[in-house]
This record gives sequence, structure tokens and C-alpha cells, in this order.
Amino acid sequence: MLVTTPPPALPEGLRGDYAAARPDFTVVQNMADYSDADHATWRALYGRQAECLRERAAAAYLAGLERLPFRDGVPDFAASSAVLRRATGWTLVAVPGLIPDDAFFDHLAQRRFPVTHWIRKPEELDYIVEPDIFHDAFGHVPMLAQPDFAEFLAAYGRMGAHAKRLGALKPLARLYWHMVEFGLLREDGRVRAYGAGILSSATETLHATESDKPRRLRFDPWRVLRSEYFIDDLQPTYFVIEDFSELYAAVDRLPALLEAARDAAPIPPGAAAEGDQPYRLTGEE
Ligand SMILES: [Fe+2]
Repeated sequence: MLVTTPPPALPEGLRGDYAAARPDFTVVQNMADYSDADHATWRALYGRQAECLRERAAAAYLAGLERLPFRDGVPDFAASSAVLRRATGWTLVAVPGLIPDDAFFDHLAQRRFPVTHWIRKPEELDYIVEPDIFHDAFGHVPMLAQPDFAEFLAAYGRMGAHAKRLGALKPLARLYWHMVEFGLLREDGRVRAYGAGILSSATETLHATESDKPRRLRFDPWRVLRSEYFIDDLQPTYFVIEDFSELYAAVDRLPALLEAARDAAPIPPGAAAEGDQPYRLTGEE
């Protein structure tokens, strides 16, 4: 059975070919479909961003990146999955682009990370509206080799159905946004990035790790679940963990916190809130 139209839960006008997708929204990644220009676009993005991240990304991310076959062109998901399977039991599945929440949660719970199979056009090197393979693979996949983070992401997927029953998908999405897309880690006395939305963007990397403009706060799940965000601008607030095990450790408290966050007033993007614990960039113990 094929899905013929993007489901209503997805935004209009997505670029991917949803007609080719299976019921779980996966498609086949055919390496022969990538042109020389596609590989050149990947290498241009990879080269530029890997350089930018050397001193700014978390060590675990850089170690994951090193293990994956990402350097020479658009990555083959089968080869990348072989690396991940050995490290943490995860695999990659190709998708046409954004997929509905239910399918997304189910893939994560099964340790399958959905990766958009197409790559942006050369004129979109600096900015693209929809996540493409560079964002999904370069940004997210290296962290899947980090055991605590990998456990957290699978637990996040398992939490999806529960949050939906509670009517708490918005707070759950905030957790993904702040801690998977835009998470920071304190490492060797400095703030380093591990979130994919940061790591796949040179501008956001500098903003998140070096600018004194954004608010950087100690990770607190209750604060995160209430914190709204901008989807099309640099983040005004980031949350900082000290160790990846903190994310998984928060999972046990999530059912109660999600319910409370559903009923609480959200905190607008960039606003301060009671109990905030700010981080300085360096030198703070
Ligand atoms: Fe993402």
C-alpha cells in the first residue's frame, strides 16, 4: 500500500515525494539517484561545518562524526547504520521529509532514526526551510553513537503515545526542540553544542557557543517543557546539560511533568522565569 498524499498533520508544500513512501513513511535510499552536484553540495557543507565545529561541538558528537562514513559525499544509510548498530543498536531509515508525529515516535522507539533522503540545492547552502539530509544526517546522526543520548532518544519515542493521550504533545515537542535540536553541554569548563539545529548551521553554532546575546540556562525539564521557541530565527534561550545521562534520567519524571506542563502557562521565547539558573560561557564553576 502506498501513501498517495501527505497526511493532514504535515505542512503544505513539502518538497519530498510522499507518493513513494510506505505506510511507515520510509522510502528506499537509492545511492545512484544522487548526482555529482549533490555529492559536491554535501562535501561543501561538510567541509565548512566540520571546520566550524572543531572547537565548538561536544566531544561525543565529534567522535561520532569521525566514526561515520560522512566525509566523501552524501552518506549511504546502510553503511552508517552498520556503524550505529554496533555502537548503540540504532539504524537509519530514509524518509521523504517531515513525517507525522505517530510515525516519528514509533521509529524512534524502535531505534530507527528517520533521515530525509534528498539534499538541498547549491543556492541553499546557507539556509533551507525544510530539514534535508545534511541537517538530519550531519546534525543528528553522530549523537546516535553516544549511548546515553541514544537511550534518551528511544525513550523519547516511547513517550510519544503517552503524551498524545495526555494532550501534551506541545510540551513534549519542546523537549525535543531544546534538548535534541538545540542542546548545549558543559565540557572542560566551556559550553559546547550537541544539538542538530545548532551543528548543521554555522550561524547558529557561533550564536549558541560564543555570542553573549542568548540566555543559557541549566537544564531543568520542568522549565524546558514550558519554554516556547522560534522555529525560524536564532534561539534566544538554550539549555545546558553537564552530562548526557541527565537527559535519560529525566525520563522517569516526564509523565507527571508533561501533564503539569500541559496545564501551565508557557514561557515565551527568550523570556526569563522564576528559578532560572544562568550559565556563563566560560570560567564558571
Ligand atoms: Fe532536526
